Amino acid sequence: MTWRPGLWRQQCRRRGFVFPSSEIYGGLGSTYDYGHYGVLAKNNIRELWFRAMVQEREDIVALDSAVILNPRVWEASGHVSGFTDPLVDCRTCKLRFREDQLSVSACGRRPSVHPGEFRECDLTEARQFNLMFTTHVGALEDESSLAYLRPETAQGIFVNFKNVLQLARRKPPFGIAQIGKSFRNEITPGNFLFRVREFEQMEMEFFVPPADSTRWHEYWIKERYDWYVRYGLRETQLRVREHDEQERSHYSSATSDIEYLYPIGWSELEGVANRGDYDLTQHTNASGTKLEYVGEGGERYTPHVIEPAVSIERILVAMLVDAYDEEVVGERERTVLRFHPAIAPIKAAVLPLIAKDEGMVAKARALYEELRVRRFVEYDDGGAIGRRYRRQDEIGTPYAFTIDEQTLEDETVTVRDRDSLAQERLPIGGVAAWLDDALAREWRSPK
Ligand code: GAP
Repeated sequence: MTWRPGLWRQQCRRRGFVFPSSEIYGGLGSTYDYGHYGVLAKNNIRELWFRAMVQEREDIVALDSAVILNPRVWEASGHVSGFTDPLVDCRTCKLRFREDQLSVSACGRRPSVHPGEFRECDLTEARQFNLMFTTHVGALEDESSLAYLRPETAQGIFVNFKNVLQLARRKPPFGIAQIGKSFRNEITPGNFLFRVREFEQMEMEFFVPPADSTRWHEYWIKERYDWYVRYGLRETQLRVREHDEQERSHYSSATSDIEYLYPIGWSELEGVANRGDYDLTQHTNASGTKLEYVGEGGERYTPHVIEPAVSIERILVAMLVDAYDEEVVGERERTVLRFHPAIAPIKAAVLPLIAKDEGMVAKARALYEELRVRRFVEYDDGGAIGRRYRRQDEIGTPYAFTIDEQTLEDETVTVRDRDSLAQERLPIGGVAAWLDDALAREWRSPK
């Protein structure tokens, strides 16, 4: 399917993944709500990230810091002065553009040309626009109560560096991982979930001895790239791109993006930055608290930081795009989401072949009750069996178990594979164990 954000919005809405936020009031620009399947897919992405980054490692601990921090954090980090985009307004069409994206934006009056190229365009000089949302803490709304919604989770980690170092008794190399909402008042949001104003970041700050930072940077680029391949993204659609000097953020001494070939072109999925000692030094200077490592032998240094940072939204879009497939089976078209089974919101469907047959329904309900305490599974007896299979294909369910006449005779069921459409028979008593095995198998996209 070609990339038309409107079409993706529609498809994801129809299948219960994503809804426009506050839709009955006309929505709110680039904010979204998630329906049942969207929640389940996001939970899977979050859990798999957390498993790889924290559970399966000895050298990373978790943190959950507040969304609203002392505003001095954002002064020290450079966000108050530097987290800006250059913005121009058009006095004619009243639209607002990022100056650095004029060449990929469309004029409000004549969309076939770029802003500034139509004779009626009247662009203002560029001015810097800070992307942080502001709020006030307490009853008074004045300068003294001004605060910000965090634009990244990373700073909550840096300001807790000393706590973790002392209380979790860590020494470099070690990491602190955090998952949580971040907020940015993006000027040019759009492209569905790709650039939104409220998103869930998954960031990990890995503190290392300065001399080892390049090695660890390379290590984390590879580790994160392999994670995407492990969960099914095709390598033909993934690449690593190093930032040149102009492109790098103020804090970074080296950054590589893991890019995905989104339908808008190669774009950043995840950034892996070498932040050097920028953040710990800034917070040491601004707070007066020394954020450094002191070894048992008395050696002391400010660790350097390697940071893999991504949002669940960017991963979800990449996985939806990668999974989406249309094919003709027999005479009929089917749409299928070929998600990695670990990402699929529903792991299996249980279907009685004939919904009015009490024997089949009883067996199907019993199987469903057995499976659903272990996994997200669905029971469906609505409509012809072909339509029920197609409904599951559309939400990416990897397996469907069908209870039919033969089940009543020999206690076996059919299992249908979403990707190959192959069917085999299994003893009904072995379905739960079969499903455990099938979900643990390696999976590669058949696309
Ligand atoms: N702590 C570093 C940091 O925040 P970033 O490149 O600005 O760096 C990191 O953001 C990741 O967060 C990006 O690679 C992307 O996955 C995600 N992200 C950033 N802005 C986003 C937005 N407006 N909507 C969705 N995801 C976003």
